[in-house]
Amino acid sequence: MSQTPELVVKDLHVSVEGKEILKGLSLEIGKGEIHAIMGPNGSGKSTFANTLMGHPKYEVTGGEILFKGESILELETDERARAGLFMAFQYPVAIPGLTFASFLRAALNARIAPATGEDGKVPTKKGIAPKEFRKLMFEKMALLKMDEKFAMRYLNDGFSGGEKKRAEILQMALLKPVIAIMDETDSGLDIDALRIVSEGVNALAGPEMGVLVITHYNRILNYIKPHKVHVMVDGRIVTSGGPEMALELEAKGYDWVREEVSQ
Ligand SMILES: Nc1ncnc2c1ncn2[C@@H]1O[C@H](COP(=O)(O)OP(=O)(O)O)[C@@H](O)[C@H]1O
Ligand SMILES: [Mg+2]
Repeated sequence: MSQTPELVVKDLHVSVEGKEILKGLSLEIGKGEIHAIMGPNGSGKSTFANTLMGHPKYEVTGGEILFKGESILELETDERARAGLFMAFQYPVAIPGLTFASFLRAALNARIAPATGEDGKVPTKKGIAPKEFRKLMFEKMALLKMDEKFAMRYLNDGFSGGEKKRAEILQMALLKPVIAIMDETDSGLDIDALRIVSEGVNALAGPEMGVLVITHYNRILNYIKPHKVHVMVDGRIVTSGGPEMALELEAKGYDWVREEVSQ
């Protein structure tokens, strides 16, 4: 396995509103690998996730992000998504009368059929036909043991915490990203949501899909076995290890890492 990693982040520096948050972050994710980033609140985890997706608020002041061997720093968010980077929507804005299925089809079409083709010409690929899409969607829902009725819900219906997670996982199953980024909230997930996310990730992750799980609590790592765990403190990855590192962090907290770093 001497392949070039799918994602290579080198000495990344990122500022938000003039303040440096990421201070030389380096990380590599190989094809189909599951990685976890853990770290205390405010260490820059969400900043990193948003920077990977090209959120305009996050200014890269140094370093490099290579995806499939090429720099993505100049790409817009939608171009990164089309290349195969995925971050679950936090929560879609309420759009009256739009079903979750319609939303998913639009998202899939955006991924496979750009609004304008190469060089601004008419796109060469058409979007997926509604009938074909439904077949694909129900296939994925069966794989994920989801109730078909779920797709017919309206986006403005108010999804529960668990349903939001289900929605994320289904979106991931349909878009088939090369790397899926999951930034879990620091408040943690309830047990139902945790189960949905873990089962979804375990069903979908594989040679074709890598996952980057970003989490404050290690609880989710009892259900998803990462190949590698990285600890982030103050805008840098300060140490990396195997899955056992999550247990070590649970037992000892983050202070020992901070102490080691400051020595
Ligand atoms: N949108 C923002 N505007 C201003 N400061 C921000 C913003 N996002 C993050 N920060 C600051 O950046 C630091 C890292 O935040 P964040 O990336 O959210 O950390 P984490 O996800 O690890 O809790 C914090 O000190 C936070 O105050
Ligand atoms: Mg965060």
